[in-house]
Amino acid sequence: MRVLVIGGTEFVSVHLVRALLRDGHQVVVTNRGRRPERLPAGVGAIVCDRTDHAALRAKLAAERVDALVDVTYAPTTGADVEAVLEALAGRLGHALFVSTGRVHDHSLPIPYREDTPRSLYWGEYAKNKIAGEDALMRWHGARGLPVTIVRPTHVYGPLNTRNNETFVFDRLVRGRPILVPGAGGWLRQFGHVEDLADAIVAMLGVPAAFGQAYNVTGEEAITQVGFVELIADVIKRPLTLVHVDTPPGGGTVPFGQNLVYDCHSVYTTTKVRRELGIRPRYTLAAGLAQTFEWYLSLGLDRREIDFSAEDDHLR
Ligand SMILES: NC(=O)c1ccc[n+]([C@@H]2O[C@H](COP(=O)([O-])OP(=O)(O)OC[C@H]3O[C@@H](n4cnc5c(N)ncnc54)[C@H](OP(=O)(O)O)[C@@H]3O)[C@@H](O)[C@H]2O)c1
Repeated sequence: MRVLVIGGTEFVSVHLVRALLRDGHQVVVTNRGRRPERLPAGVGAIVCDRTDHAALRAKLAAERVDALVDVTYAPTTGADVEAVLEALAGRLGHALFVSTGRVHDHSLPIPYREDTPRSLYWGEYAKNKIAGEDALMRWHGARGLPVTIVRPTHVYGPLNTRNNETFVFDRLVRGRPILVPGAGGWLRQFGHVEDLADAIVAMLGVPAAFGQAYNVTGEEAITQVGFVELIADVIKRPLTLVHVDTPPGGGTVPFGQNLVYDCHSVYTTTKVRRELGIRPRYTLAAGLAQTFEWYLSLGLDRREIDFSAEDDHLR
């Protein structure tokens, strides 16, 4: 297949490009061209800011693709998603949109299924992702375009741009304590980035996936404390936990880039497994071990980090 990826040079989309090439697909990416060195040989690059719809139309005018994977959040609005579909109208086989588990209404009891009502619980991010999903579904309903929505949750793995697992690595390799917001009992669910990329590739051009949305993440839900304990276990470092009270509504306790918030986030993965036969390769422990190897291979364990905010809590 010839596949157009919006993005291609950061975390999720880098792994997606690699997975597509591995499976013999022809890949073209659209991004602003800030990290061209990240593109493997043979990948076509269309340099364009996706928020400039006129430029996008001009740059994609000659493109004909079997599939589009819209990965980048720029922050991407419904109109931005629609603009890509317009720019490829009549020359696109299947559109896949990377949304988020955060479209689900997190005030409802867990776990969240694909048909759990969506809401603006997660504010502007949810609003934009819901609008992107709706744009896709409109094109599916009114114009018959094959579309698929993928909803990942906390994605982890090599090249992660969110400082979550690396946040814990950084402290444990230095023998530092880990501050825990409150009781640290909110459930999280992590998905390995290679599993996400593989799932997306496996859906492309698959009629059973047309018009569908899928939660795509790992099989294990784990508390905030459990996540830290598992990492300590996997990388074989002693662990000291220091609980810090958070003000109601969440707080400023340093604990990974986006893992502090005060609610559970747990999602069913049954639909993608049962309907498409897609399941993750990595358990959370295996994925963390692989990510730690990558972290060490880049010497990230020796990087400079400012711990002063945490030291204030520890005094
Ligand atoms: N990470 C998670 O835990 C998580 C969870 C749920 C959902 N998601 C979703 O997963 C997706 C992947 O996110 P990611 O953080 O891995 O990043 P990504 O989209 O894979 O990487 C960003 C890419 O987009 C390009 N880009 C950025 N702004 C652009 C613009 N205005 N126009 C064109 N290209 C642009 C960047 O290149 P240039 O800078 O050169 O333009 C880069 O190639 C997002 O949609 C996110 O909402 C992530």
